[in-house]
Amino acid sequence: MNNAILIVGCGSIGERHLRCFQRTGRAEVAACDSNAVLLQRVAQQYNVANFIDFRVALAARKYDGIVIATPAHTHVELALAALRHGAAVFIEKPLSTRFDKVDELCTASARLKQFTAVAYVYHVMPWILGARDVLRRGTLGRPLHVSVATGQHFPTFRPAYREIYYTRHESGGGAIQDALTHIANVVEWLVGPTTRLFCDAAHQALEGVTVEDTVNVTARNDNVLVNYALNQFQAPSEMTLLIHCEAGSVRVEGHEQRWSVFRRGAKEWEHHKAAPLERDDIFIAQANAFLDGMRRKPTPLATIAEAAQTLKFNLAALESARSGKAIEIS
Ligand SMILES: NC(=O)c1ccc[n+]([C@@H]2O[C@H](COP(=O)([O-])OP(=O)(O)OC[C@H]3O[C@@H](n4cnc5c(N)ncnc54)[C@H](O)[C@@H]3O)[C@@H](O)[C@H]2O)c1
Repeated sequence: MNNAILIVGCGSIGERHLRCFQRTGRAEVAACDSNAVLLQRVAQQYNVANFIDFRVALAARKYDGIVIATPAHTHVELALAALRHGAAVFIEKPLSTRFDKVDELCTASARLKQFTAVAYVYHVMPWILGARDVLRRGTLGRPLHVSVATGQHFPTFRPAYREIYYTRHESGGGAIQDALTHIANVVEWLVGPTTRLFCDAAHQALEGVTVEDTVNVTARNDNVLVNYALNQFQAPSEMTLLIHCEAGSVRVEGHEQRWSVFRRGAKEWEHHKAAPLERDDIFIAQANAFLDGMRRKPTPLATIAEAAQTLKFNLAALESARSGKAIEIS
């Protein structure tokens, strides 16, 4: 039987979720967006039931799952209402822009029986899963040192960046909350939570906004030393993540869709390449993982607790960039 899924917020990523849940063949999808023009276009294009008001959508029928794809400062309130409705809840990243009610959400998600997860989409990328598998097997020993260099030309990927949540920290904007959060979350997933960081950030290039588009972070994830360099103006869209362990190194090149291992004593990298994937393929895999989670199957998706930890990273990075001081994360 198809699962009834409501997509709340059908902008850039919400429309992709709507399309990709439909393409799983396992979901009957409905759309909700407070922008009437956008909603009508999406409803016609995908032939779905549609609601301009979230409360009206909830009153209309019972949903098995609700996807929250609105700007980050609205996620927690909408997720709490979705949990009260009795649905499984899938929340876009970042979990929020502040800690208000995050504890309430964590408690409600632990107490209620519905499945909850956060859409940190790197968790379903085969090259990340491959690297994680190598690390978890333990043959390389403990991770000791991580470095990430990543970036893309944001205006190419998101031409409307001057008109959306991206323009303000309060709505989840800037490079830290929008882009670095994906990488920080995945590093935490691979080597454990961040315990301390220093962040330097600046607006370097993007026209029409003042939020930071360039970030350097030096962090500790307990005993692992971590370094991030990210910008949103460079021409190549690339992500290279290196994890050096006691007995060898793992490298992920997101733009090559591959992960590689270099064991101590080896002469060269041992490469593993995923079958070529389009962006929608990854989001279909993510939608399937959420539907599996609703059926109580194990999934690689980020938990609310993991996303709450990454929210601490985001807020500490913003505070460090403002104050010029290193921040301890409890
Ligand atoms: N995982 C990814 O790769 C990825 C990519 C882009 C964005 N995101 C995240 O997804 C979220 C949305 O980003 P976006 O780029 O789609 O933004 P967007 O501005 O394109 O879309 C947001 C939509 O939400 C609607 N909305 C806002 N409040 C609403 C409410 N209360 N009820 C109903 N609709 C409401 C708006 O009308 C808008 O259409 C953000 O948290 C962002 O960080 C994730």
